[in-house]
Amino acid sequence: MAPEVINTVELMQAHAPGSRRAVVMTMGALHAGHAELMRIARERVGPTGELLVTVFVNPLQFGPGEDFERYPRTWRHDLDVCRQEGVDAVFVPVADDMYAQGRDITIDPGPLGGILEGAVRPGHFAGVLTVVAKLMNLTRPDVAVFGEKDYQQLVLIKRMVAQLNLRVEVVGAPTLREDDGLALSSRNGYLGESDRAAAAAIPAAISAAKRTASAGAGAGDVAAAATAVLAGRAGIVTDYVAVTDPELGPPPHQGPARILIAARVGTPRLLDNAAVVLGAS
Ligand code: PAF
Repeated sequence: MAPEVINTVELMQAHAPGSRRAVVMTMGALHAGHAELMRIARERVGPTGELLVTVFVNPLQFGPGEDFERYPRTWRHDLDVCRQEGVDAVFVPVADDMYAQGRDITIDPGPLGGILEGAVRPGHFAGVLTVVAKLMNLTRPDVAVFGEKDYQQLVLIKRMVAQLNLRVEVVGAPTLREDDGLALSSRNGYLGESDRAAAAAIPAAISAAKRTASAGAGAGDVAAAATAVLAGRAGIVTDYVAVTDPELGPPPHQGPARILIAARVGTPRLLDNAAVVLGAS
């Protein structure tokens, strides 16, 4: 059955949940990674629950000169994906409606919002957290599922929900990958053929980091192993390689940690990350 399409804030506010509701928030350009988030969300609420997807390219999280205007908008395809995944309703507002009351009040992501992606994209996480909080208020979910691919975003959303006492369970979903290991992303569509080959260095760097960690190395050597892979490939410019603890703080001497990579391949910036266990052997 086709999902119900809700295209105004007013209609969304009037759309009362009949049962437990799970939400997957997206900017559209849906791919297999989003479909997986929808499946996980459905599992959380069961067949009698409501699965709601939001599709909104949020202007507040794009900086000047970023790809807001050319971000892929594929509404018909998105609706098809939602129908195939048994989504009950899709909320697809326009920006003038979402921000009709103004946009000068935003959520400050705190110090973690200023590192890594936040250092490269000032204001990005204030824009993300503000729209996520608005979408949570409008859709009132019991569960919201976000991909681990945008790991810093996921950590910040969890912190916001905890610190603002929002009544929603935030679930992180593992990253899906293409055959060559590249993490699925709506921005992969920007890559030409030669970019695509260069981009494969990113998952290769993640694999090198994992191998190095499981051989017993610490954060410095793990980061160096990933950096060396990226440095050895033409056509790729590394923005950062970071090893942190799972909450994005300083890495432990030993134990669970996260490697995060951002690199530019041509125009697009690609992100990847993975769990590693430092000094494991
Ligand atoms: O991850 C995304 O697609 C966006 O940042 C989100 C969470 C939908 C907010 O616009």
